[in-house]
Amino acid sequence: MAGSRASQPTVVRTRCELDGVLALARGAERRVGLVPTMGALHAGHAALLREARADADLVVTSIFVNPLQFAPGEDLHRYPRTWDADLETCAREGVDVVLAPDVADIYPDGPDGGVSVDPGPLGAVLEGAARPGHFRGVLTVVAALVGLVRPATAWFGAKDYQQLVLVRRMVRQLSQRVDVRGVPIVREPDGLALSSRNGYLDADQRRDATALWRALQAGSGRGSAGPAEVESAARAVLDGVSGLWPDYVSVVAPDLAKPPDSGPSRLLVAARIGETRLIDNAAVDLGLSAGGG
Ligand code: PAJ
Repeated sequence: MAGSRASQPTVVRTRCELDGVLALARGAERRVGLVPTMGALHAGHAALLREARADADLVVTSIFVNPLQFAPGEDLHRYPRTWDADLETCAREGVDVVLAPDVADIYPDGPDGGVSVDPGPLGAVLEGAARPGHFRGVLTVVAALVGLVRPATAWFGAKDYQQLVLVRRMVRQLSQRVDVRGVPIVREPDGLALSSRNGYLDADQRRDATALWRALQAGSGRGSAGPAEVESAARAVLDGVSGLWPDYVSVVAPDLAKPPDSGPSRLLVAARIGETRLIDNAAVDLGLSAGGG
């Protein structure tokens, strides 16, 4: 374990600087862990950092607002950038290395002109249907970060459930030697999942945003009645809030395939409040109450 919990992390900005830090770590056979982020760190990110700190010898977190995963017209330019607070969070959580690369370090041929990772059909549903190109951008940057850092383990939040599933698939398909770990969703006391985008909400919108969590609870409570009932119970909650526009309410298998008749599945919701798009999800146990017929 790294001995210096309270000390400032080393900030590296280029491939060359990173290689220097990693060469030292690998020489000492320290296990490298990676937590990719876009900054604006909150308690959800901190949970990932804590898991990484408990597991890895050298914890690297990347802070990079990835232009390739934002569609034109999305919030790339107003995405919150809170560098000083982020560094404090990293120091507090015992991060060893903060990788804050330039676009050119990640995209040597430019973000639009280079090779990219095709997420396949699962990249075109749910979030991918609403945000064309999003998962191509996510997987391409994660592949680049994994290539740069070569971690033994990388941590991703269940908050972005489809992202977690697709990262796992990519790692398997591309034989990337990294163990991908999922971390449960961290929520506000009223259930709202922590997100860097929550800061866009005004007071009324912030109150309405709790509907996502209430919808998930209403839906998961209907698991024994089957996926259609789960979806309609969740949708009824969202439909009851004026000022909130549901995008999708969908029960899927844990791997995003069609939901099973019974057993573990996932309820995913997305909604727009004003200009802000919010997503959330929860586990649902689809039950056997249909009488086994
Ligand atoms: P970002 O939104 O900064 O999230 C970084 C990581 O924190 C992701 O794995 C995300 O799922 C996790 N996370 C965010 N909010 C969380 C919460 N409330 N509880 C638990 N985990 C949470 O996701 C991205 O960045 C980017 O797509 C990235 C993977 C860095 C690629 O650019």
